[in-house]
Amino acid sequence: MTMHPHSTPPHAAEGVLLSACDVVRTYRMGRVEVPVLKSASIDVKPGEWVAILGSSGSGKSTLLHLLGGLDRADSGTVTFRGEHVGGYSQSRLDRYRNEHIGFVFQFYHLLPELNVLENTLLPATIGIGRFEWMRRQGEIRDRARMLLERFGLSHRFRHRPAELSGGERQRVAIARALMHNPDVLLADEPTGNLDAKTGDTILDMIAEQHRAGLTVVMVTHDQWIAARADRTVHLVDGRVA
Ligand SMILES: Nc1ncnc2c1ncn2[C@@H]1O[C@H](COP(=O)(O)OP(=O)(O)OP(=O)(O)O)[C@@H](O)[C@H]1O
Ligand SMILES: [Mg+2]
Repeated sequence: MTMHPHSTPPHAAEGVLLSACDVVRTYRMGRVEVPVLKSASIDVKPGEWVAILGSSGSGKSTLLHLLGGLDRADSGTVTFRGEHVGGYSQSRLDRYRNEHIGFVFQFYHLLPELNVLENTLLPATIGIGRFEWMRRQGEIRDRARMLLERFGLSHRFRHRPAELSGGERQRVAIARALMHNPDVLLADEPTGNLDAKTGDTILDMIAEQHRAGLTVVMVTHDQWIAARADRTVHLVDGRVA
């Protein structure tokens, strides 16, 4: 859609950090169209923890990807602090993700050949040159170590993801998402592959970050997990009910 990248959409409400307004996303597979989001809207306020609840295939991941700038809507708008994210150029979109968004994927998405410490500090190395890396690597490594220690992984720095349990991998993924101090954590079924007790530990970690001021949008199909959030919205038939 055509819109000035930095124009403020008329519906951008006061006190809203991140929002999707009437977003439509249809996947095309050959000649078949799969309408996923038909007109989905959500407003997230600063410091809120919102859970998006919906059945499998309802478009939860799709919506989260749009909010995080990992995908673009066919129509409708995504705004961050009133700015129209969908109108960003690719490099501006990369910067948006790097500066404001921490993404936790359902299946961790850790790089198998890197160890825990390297996986965690990876986002901080993206887009910086060799000189800046040389200058800042001490500080970057310290932050990665601090986060991993806080999440009980100090004994795992040199381990590869394959040597970790699911819960440990997800803790690394959360540390990585927090590495650049994002404004919003977007978590896609962060406990989806974990047993209940391990899942609770992960949710406790997210809750601790939320209490410290982090805005959280979490996708789940489990109403008990959604109950940990301040507010739950339901994704039904391509809309937020
Ligand atoms: N890249 C793609 N190409 C084609 N179809 C896709 C693509 N990604 C998702 N879909 C389809 O869009 C629909 C919604 O997918 P999405 O992953 O957003 O659902 P979800 O609510 O996250 O489901 P789950 O709870 O199983 O993770 C599904 O029917 C899926 O098959
Ligand atoms: Mg999903």
